[in-house]
Amino acid sequence: MVNVLSVVFPLYMYPSSCSASAISPSCAWYPFFQSINSNPSVTFNIIVNPNSGPGDLNSYPNDDWKSVLSYANSLNNTNLIGYIDSNPTNIPVSVYKPQIQTYRNWANFSGKDIPVDGIFVDDMAYSASSNSYYTTFANNIKSIWSSSSSRPAPYIMMNPGQPIECSFYSNVDSIVSFEDYYSNLNMAAFIKAPYTNCPRYKQAIIIHDFNNTALDQQQICDDMGQTFRVGNLFITSAIQDEATRQNPYDEVPPLLQQFSGSVKATNSWILGHPQWYADI
Ligand SMILES: *[C@@H]1O[C@H](CO)[C@@H](O)[C@H](O)[C@H]1NC(C)=O
Ligand SMILES: *[C@@H]1O[C@H](CO)[C@@H](O)[C@H](O)[C@H]1NC(C)=O
Ligand SMILES: *[C@@H]1O[C@H](CO)[C@@H](O)[C@H](O)[C@H]1NC(C)=O
Repeated sequence: MVNVLSVVFPLYMYPSSCSASAISPSCAWYPFFQSINSNPSVTFNIIVNPNSGPGDLNSYPNDDWKSVLSYANSLNNTNLIGYIDSNPTNIPVSVYKPQIQTYRNWANFSGKDIPVDGIFVDDMAYSASSNSYYTTFANNIKSIWSSSSSRPAPYIMMNPGQPIECSFYSNVDSIVSFEDYYSNLNMAAFIKAPYTNCPRYKQAIIIHDFNNTALDQQQICDDMGQTFRVGNLFITSAIQDEATRQNPYDEVPPLLQQFSGSVKATNSWILGHPQWYADI
């Protein structure tokens, strides 16, 4: 199998007006589903985030959520990953574990197919001193997933937003090694020593404040997929503003359809020339 790019959608947007149909133009997630349906060969990893976590513990999400989750699960090119915040000092096991269990239990709901496929751990404060906290975090996700029924192993993505030591990659499926302004992409640390030998395919790159053309966006997809061989990518022109706490993940990127098409084009090139793109 040849490693190709997947899309990661940090879809921190409430699925408003989606309860009746996830693919009605009035549903807030409709443009994302358009992208997913237009590019069936591309895998889309969707981070779902009802309330900086699953919302109420030991319960199921509401009808808007059930609609988008079940629609996404009806497609063969999506994975859903549940958002959980982390912090070695403020978020102990006793807080995050019930959140993992709540996401896991969505698989019990019988009215609709709403399970999630894994967990996204945000705000990873990775350092030597927090290594054991995150190792335990990953182990708790795995043990909760394996504790019942026959669902496959969870997909685990952790987000330090910058590179971390390569050895940690063996605990997880993906690490967000760049979550930053587009203007910082050229000087990104993930492509430099001492990180050059970290598993490329396990890296996810999230670029916000992108202010260039669709052609430049295609170039980034080619660079990430063909040159750097990373596994997951998201690009948005939405703006992060620390002062006003404006988050770039609650609006539809204006170049969203072009972005998803560009990932497909990058992958077509890679798949057309497997001799140049050995698995890494
Ligand atoms: C989904 O199924 C379609 C039709 O069979 C196929 O062309 C596509 O490659 C599949 N996508 C994935 C990501 O498996
Ligand atoms: C729901 O799923 C959990 C495991 O994830 C299991 O322990 C529990 O018994 C299930 N509850 C019901 C009502 O099926
Ligand atoms: C994009 O933003 C950068 C950094 O703010 C700026 O230097 C550059 O001129 C902008 N490019 C375009 C095409 O607006």
